[in-house]
Amino acid sequence: MRVIILGSAAGGGLPQWNCGCGNCQDARAHGRGRTQSSVAVSADGERWVLLNASPDLRTQLAARRELRPRGPRGTPIGAVVCTDGEIDHTLGLLLLREASAQLPVYAPTAVIGLLDREWPVFRVLSAYAGVAPRALPDAQPIALADLSGVSLGIACTAVPVARRAPRYARSAPAGTFDVGLRLVDQRTGGTLSYIPTAGAVDETVRTLASGADLLCFDGTFWSDGELRAAGADAPTAVEMGHLPVGGPGGGLEALPRLGVKRTVLIHINNTNPILCRTSAERARVEAAGLIVGDDGMEFEL
Ligand code: MLT
Ligand code: MN
Ligand code: ZN
Repeated sequence: MRVIILGSAAGGGLPQWNCGCGNCQDARAHGRGRTQSSVAVSADGERWVLLNASPDLRTQLAARRELRPRGPRGTPIGAVVCTDGEIDHTLGLLLLREASAQLPVYAPTAVIGLLDREWPVFRVLSAYAGVAPRALPDAQPIALADLSGVSLGIACTAVPVARRAPRYARSAPAGTFDVGLRLVDQRTGGTLSYIPTAGAVDETVRTLASGADLLCFDGTFWSDGELRAAGADAPTAVEMGHLPVGGPGGGLEALPRLGVKRTVLIHINNTNPILCRTSAERARVEAAGLIVGDDGMEFEL
């Protein structure tokens, strides 16, 4: 299985339009940025599955030869899997509206509901080629397939990770609003564990990551009060459902113990000090054997 990190930043990207933190200033000064959270996977190198559809999808697709049309019209993207209904993981669906056929979109049932009602992306897209929503069952492997039902060679298991409904839908009925994924190449057994949002390294994460060749894990924040410290009137990392990388019981401590071959931090917020190559936090992450994800990173599993 081939894995490409299309975007390694959390919502807002780097630089974020209204942020004057050190990382954002540095990114502007050096013309170096990061696009928002998305990963592309493929079992055959020809047909691709997007894991989340970021607001930067247009530039992400233009940057990769593998994701360009093969003829006058068309796309090698066979399906999209959304792990949540947050804006940074779903807005990109709107950017695919020029499609000539329905786009298969896998998501937890409650997220399909959000995308129909509170954040009506599916409803809006129904006036264009539309989407074919496909519910991800809890903790059961399914074979991902293109619109005509042809298998894409990847089995996907989605396991709920405890997290609140998105901010735009706080009154939505209870349900699974976030999942982590385990994706297995059905031919080679190559396994990716993809968990862009997690409030803990718990039994769910251990199940998803067990024996994986690659774990892509929530690296949103280094510390709990990071957003507020950067001047934003904002909730804490834990309130947002993101386990900080640093601190007691944080990702830095817990992730190396999972025994996964390679662990890459993704969905990194622009305020996170691990983005600064010379920071002490970055040195600690690297010393622990964790990889700071970056746009364009590729893995072969
Ligand atoms: C999150 O990952 O916590 C959300 O995407 C936050 C947001 O950007 O609204
Ligand atoms: Mn997010
Ligand atoms: Zn910033």
